[in-house]
Amino acid sequence: MNLYKRHLVTAALPYANGPVHIGHLAGVYIPADIYVRYLRLRGKDVKFICGSDEHGVPITIKARQMGVSPQDVVDKYHHIIKESFARFGISFDVYSRTSSKTQHETAAGFFKKLYDSGKFIEKNTEQYYDTEAQQFLADRYITGSCPKCGNESAYGDQCEKCGATLSPTELINPRSMISGSKPILRETSHWYLPLNEYEPWLREWILEQHKEWKTNVYGQCKSWLDGGLQPRAVSRDLDWGVPVPIEGAEGKVLYVWFDAPIGYISNTKEILPDEWELWWKDKETRLVHFIGKDNIVFHCIVFPVMLKAHGDYILPDNVPANEFLNLEGNKISTSRNWAVWLHEYLDDFPGKEDVLRYVLCANAPETKDNDFTWKDFQTRNNSELVAILGNFVNRAIVLTHKYFDGKVPPLHEVNDYDKATLNDIPIIKQAVEENIETFHFREALKEAMNLARLGNKYLTDTEPWKLAKTDMQKASTVLNIALQCCAACAIVFEPFLPFTAQKLRQMLGMQEADWDMLGKNAILPDSQLLQEAQLLFGKIEDDDIQKQTDKLK
Ligand code: MF3
Ligand code: ZN
Repeated sequence: MNLYKRHLVTAALPYANGPVHIGHLAGVYIPADIYVRYLRLRGKDVKFICGSDEHGVPITIKARQMGVSPQDVVDKYHHIIKESFARFGISFDVYSRTSSKTQHETAAGFFKKLYDSGKFIEKNTEQYYDTEAQQFLADRYITGSCPKCGNESAYGDQCEKCGATLSPTELINPRSMISGSKPILRETSHWYLPLNEYEPWLREWILEQHKEWKTNVYGQCKSWLDGGLQPRAVSRDLDWGVPVPIEGAEGKVLYVWFDAPIGYISNTKEILPDEWELWWKDKETRLVHFIGKDNIVFHCIVFPVMLKAHGDYILPDNVPANEFLNLEGNKISTSRNWAVWLHEYLDDFPGKEDVLRYVLCANAPETKDNDFTWKDFQTRNNSELVAILGNFVNRAIVLTHKYFDGKVPPLHEVNDYDKATLNDIPIIKQAVEENIETFHFREALKEAMNLARLGNKYLTDTEPWKLAKTDMQKASTVLNIALQCCAACAIVFEPFLPFTAQKLRQMLGMQEADWDMLGKNAILPDSQLLQEAQLLFGKIEDDDIQKQTDKLK
């Protein structure tokens, strides 16, 4: 990590066909935000790139359902998504959109460059066509039974039940999503990226050079490569998207999965119009893509092949992907409205952004699918955030006000227990670093929480409220140590719970968080004046949870 001069971190561009839900957050945006905040704390040069994915069939289908234009759909959801991310503290350096002018130009230019240098093959094939709607049926416009598992509502590009990648002609009993009619086959021509030609290179690059990728990611790549790659069409017969920039291609647009990842480049250009090439073409840039598991093939195989074929670009150094989060035992579903929507959560739980960040990280689907339940949300809030972190900090600050006029009291003689407590801070620091740098965010958070646990236990064991009656010097030492632990919490929690960490720093009179201070002897100088204690977390009652479970039904 230290070999690199700069870090370009991307988070999958969400489709602007609906708001963001907790599955997106746990899978992609929370881990990415923790990672970026951590890098910034370490003083690294970082850019965090995201934006809305506004093209493709997911958008046009939604427009049809709502009876509005695709533009109306993306305008509506782009703003909802952008605002909810900002309120939730996801600290993107840019959140733009693939309908931007920059993106249209960049994506068209990218296609043109590959086209001109002969990287595509052009093929005529027969594709499904809806004679009633007079339209070709790309990707999700067609449904039918999955040839692999029999699921009756598989899409033309993918079966969501078994995860198989499909092509429309493989579907049994195909039906048009638009009219419900049985489609006919009609000839059309498209440009294909011959992934198969890049297979030896991909095998070497991924399977040999990136053995460190997460096992779920590496495993999926290996099974794709072992299954043999096929040329993949990069254009579609649709009227929504970036027009294919060559003569005679009227009515054709770039395939959304060709267009969208180029959005990472365009969005970087928007914030760094003069410097963006350094971020995308210089070997000393480290590119990391945070994604969900359904995006693995596109980020590990298709996009890298595009970048390689183009020739000027760096490749991702890592592609951390999470599995899926379920909700109360069932798959999260936008269409069945089985979800916890971020913008609604923010309205229902004002000031509790960090509670959701905590629960979704503590329970993130890092290695297997996981379940979110409101009961678990309540328990983690009440018995971890309130009872450990909040309680510890509150006791330390309140006692300092009570016995030392709110000023950090000095350290006097230290015994073995005091020393051991202080010595644990750098050990925890290192464990957090190692876990974040290897994308084990749950474990990293657990370690951070151990710091609060340590401090809480230290106060309980040493009982400074009793010492204050018999041995003021010892009480002073104990509270100094407890406050140093609080200050360490204010730094270590910054990537995970940024609102809380900031509040805590304010109470302790600290400046900006400085990672290097962690584990140094004294973060807080003697006599520093503390503010009055404010509760960091409030209890969540059964009623609050009941409302949410009722809302689901
Ligand atoms: N919109 C896609 C999804 O939600 C992700 C696109 S990521 C990008 O699954 F690389 F294409 F931008
Ligand atoms: Zn299937």
